Amino acid sequence: MEEGINLKTSVDVARIRRACRVAERCLRFLAGKVRPGVSTLQLDRLAADFVLKSGGEAALRGYRGFPCTICASVNNVAAHGIPTAAQLEEGDVLTLDITVSVNGWHGDAAWTFLVGGGGPDARRLLRAAWAANLAGIRAARAGGRLGDVGEAVQEAARRYGCSVIEDYVGHGIGRVMHEDPMVPNFGQHDTGTRIVPGMVFTVEPMLNLGSQATHVSSDGWTLVTTDGSLSAQSEHTV
Ligand code: MF3
Ligand code: CO
Ligand code: CO
Repeated sequence: MEEGINLKTSVDVARIRRACRVAERCLRFLAGKVRPGVSTLQLDRLAADFVLKSGGEAALRGYRGFPCTICASVNNVAAHGIPTAAQLEEGDVLTLDITVSVNGWHGDAAWTFLVGGGGPDARRLLRAAWAANLAGIRAARAGGRLGDVGEAVQEAARRYGCSVIEDYVGHGIGRVMHEDPMVPNFGQHDTGTRIVPGMVFTVEPMLNLGSQATHVSSDGWTLVTTDGSLSAQSEHTV
């Protein structure tokens, strides 16, 4: 067994799934609110309200001092964007990431939306992020290894001509939001941590239209693409 990895019982998994369902329903609800003129701060308030009414807790709020319920990352922001009062515009690429806990168990998910219509490159990026996420999830099988997941993610991104950010990874999840194992979005088939029944982790690739290079802005949170290119992410807990 891999050291440091908390394997979950089927009861634990059911608890995690409850939190995931709240995260999913919240993202679905927010999807219906995303349009030009809406601010990410408004979306954050709607999310906070939704999670509360669903009997969950907003796990991101207060996490290492993060101020909000959702991460809202627009265009060249790859991740960890802090919601603001700025209005979304037609063609914006918006990633919403939410972590919910229910009775102390966590679920984590992120979807990327196109605000209004969008150009062919933005649409390709969104399809790529979803395809890469799905490929990684399909590769996550007991008996395999985490390198299978990373390779599948990378290969899917490559088919769409997008780069994969390598500095951020998926993670084990359960009673805490981030635990072992780390789940890289690159790698080689048949290498890395062995996947065994009872593991619960996220697959959450971030893809860019340009180079994979990113850096954290001066607010200490906002992760931006260094070349300013568009970025998208899809995250599921599996
Ligand atoms: N939900 C993010 C993840 O996928 C974590 C964001 S940490 C925050 O792991 F503090 F920025 F919210
Ligand atoms: Co995550
Ligand atoms: Co997340």
